[in-house]
Amino acid sequence: MSQTTLPETHRILQLTSTSEPLQLKIVPTPQAGPGSAVVKVLVAGILSYSADIYNGKRQYPFPKPFVPGSSAIGRIVAVGPDATTLAPGQLVFLDCTIRGRDNSEAVILSGISEGFTEASKKLMHGEWRDSTYAEYTKFPLENCIPLNEQRLLGPVDAGGLGYCVEDLMHISKLVVPYGGLNDIGLKPGETVIIAPATGPFGSAAVRVALAMGAGRVIAMGRNETMLHKLSTLDTRISTVRITGNEKTETDALKELGPIDVFFDISPFMAANSTHFKSAIAALRHSGRISLMGGVYADISFPYLSFMHRNLTMKGTWMFSREQMFGFVKLLESGLLPLGEKNGLSVGGKFGLEEWEEAFEKARIAGAEEVVAIVP
Ligand SMILES: NC(=O)c1ccc[n+]([C@@H]2O[C@H](COP(=O)([O-])OP(=O)(O)OC[C@H]3O[C@@H](n4cnc5c(N)ncnc54)[C@H](OP(=O)(O)O)[C@@H]3O)[C@@H](O)[C@H]2O)c1
Repeated sequence: MSQTTLPETHRILQLTSTSEPLQLKIVPTPQAGPGSAVVKVLVAGILSYSADIYNGKRQYPFPKPFVPGSSAIGRIVAVGPDATTLAPGQLVFLDCTIRGRDNSEAVILSGISEGFTEASKKLMHGEWRDSTYAEYTKFPLENCIPLNEQRLLGPVDAGGLGYCVEDLMHISKLVVPYGGLNDIGLKPGETVIIAPATGPFGSAAVRVALAMGAGRVIAMGRNETMLHKLSTLDTRISTVRITGNEKTETDALKELGPIDVFFDISPFMAANSTHFKSAIAALRHSGRISLMGGVYADISFPYLSFMHRNLTMKGTWMFSREQMFGFVKLLESGLLPLGEKNGLSVGGKFGLEEWEEAFEKARIAGAEEVVAIVP
């Protein structure tokens, strides 16, 4: 094992029950073994609905007790003996999408969900139970994604992009729509509907589609202020409001056509929204649809129209490792800017003991702000 200095103990946040507050504890620091790295957590992400995950309202499945968390930015402090390239000191993105090494269909979201199969549950109840709301975390080597620190954090006059570590937390939102848009092969020059485009992941999808070279991005949503804000980002962005009137929406979309792709990232509250049908109706022949939302209810779709127009629909949960690396290339190229110049801000940083305040700030933060735990 290769390592720099690791203290004997460290501080963690622990969840023992969804009906009790998280607790700050001091426990032995994890050790790196074969296949893993121990990483000092610099900033860990918070979802707008994190409070509802850990108080049980969203009914996410996870083992108890465990250390909650999410994707994070960290610095490697120790690696197992089989690490070939990762080494102490490396700046990494900790990708919370952990897959079984003997079964890549067993997927968990570290700190968030044990997934929906017996195999994924086994993965999270054992080795990968604890996540990033801690000073140190043990992560699979393959989930430690190397970041080019000089390029991303270096000063602009030295060839860097001049970001701060907190700016990099936007990766955890931006990489999600990259998975779905890449899965349906969004090509430079194409026209894509993003709906709803006004939430944290939807507004991230708008930026990713632009960076992937979309010729036109049609942002759909109900919130007019947010739609207007998005339209000022780039001349390739048009907006269409979700009004509840399917025909009006379809007509408005068709005026901007032909439309190649419809990317959906609806939350469960949008299950009865008209945009599903209006966006599908506005697609050109052989159009493609990506579903990345969290809708629990069944949604009906126009069967014959699908068949006659050769439409393709693809679901995507998170993103593959290959897509993760493709995303990092896009980021390091500078084509997908972070920071205020792309409307992406840092809404707040909170210590482990300030978790309650942090979750509340994340709940009320704007869609384009990141709120982070800084252990
Ligand atoms: N597939 C994956 O890997 C993956 C990864 C991460 C997240 N997700 C899912 O993505 C979904 C979106 O997450 P988020 O954090 O961006 O947003 P969110 O906070 O869950 O939802 C806010 C968005 O939903 C829209 N909305 C809410 N109620 C609506 C309604 N009745 N009709 C139409 N639109 C409505 C809002 O539009 P207005 O503000 O315009 O009203 C806003 O754009 C979540 O459900 C999450 O589970 C999926």
